[in-house]
Amino acid sequence: MNNNKPTKIKTSNRLPQEKEIGSKSIGFKGKIKVLNLYAGIGGNRKLWENVEVTAIEINPFIANIYKEFFPNDNIVIADAHEYLINNFEDFDFIWSSPPCPSHSDIRRCGVKRGQVDPIYPDMKLYEEIILLNNFFNGKFVIENVVSYYKPLIRPTQIDRHYFWSNYLLNKVKIEEEKKIIHITGNENFYGFDISKFKIDNKRTLLRNLVNPKLGLAIFNAAFHDKQKEVLAYVK
Ligand SMILES: C[S@@+](CC[C@H](N)C(=O)[O-])C[C@H]1O[C@@H](n2cnc3c(N)ncnc32)[C@H](O)[C@@H]1O
Repeated sequence: MNNNKPTKIKTSNRLPQEKEIGSKSIGFKGKIKVLNLYAGIGGNRKLWENVEVTAIEINPFIANIYKEFFPNDNIVIADAHEYLINNFEDFDFIWSSPPCPSHSDIRRCGVKRGQVDPIYPDMKLYEEIILLNNFFNGKFVIENVVSYYKPLIRPTQIDRHYFWSNYLLNKVKIEEEKKIIHITGNENFYGFDISKFKIDNKRTLLRNLVNPKLGLAIFNAAFHDKQKEVLAYVK
């Protein structure tokens, strides 16, 4: 990878045909095969249409809730990092939301205040970025929090998130995000009402949600772009 200039990479072999998705032509025949890693209860996935989604979630209780919201998705209870390396070639689009606690400023502040011990930042985040940027022929996006350290690979920052992708995200704009700080766990957040589920830490579940409108805008940006080549944001 080049540290100074954006790297030009080729778009997927799977992309060139024309197809209607909703009302928009996006250059695709049939449903888009999507891998949704570290799925949670599916905030990023909520508004995607004409997709065939395989969702990977390690926590069976969370996976059950996801299944209620998205009964047509194929949900697999498994380790997402391992699933990715074994299956990434089977998909057109991959979204990954690896756990953020080891990268988050909340951790750094907790350590400084003596509330928690320091831990290594989990480098699986960067393993996935490097793997997909070099070996995946489709479009991908990896989402995480804004980290307390300078990111090792330059992301695009949108609101409270960092995104690494192999297509342009600079035009993605959303209205102001809801403030997650006030979430109690019992409200209907982004259209997710989890009050009927018996599960600990509902607050965390809701706080983890990516704004569905942001998830849709990022998904759309992958396929509505007519450019023959894309600039890799990973550099
Ligand atoms: C940040 S949340 C995902 C939020 C999701 N993108 C959304 O918008 O709703 C991360 C999820 O990854 C799950 N998880 C953590 N480690 C995992 C692993 N190794 N494999 C699969 N899922 C994992 C957690 O249980 C949690 O539900």
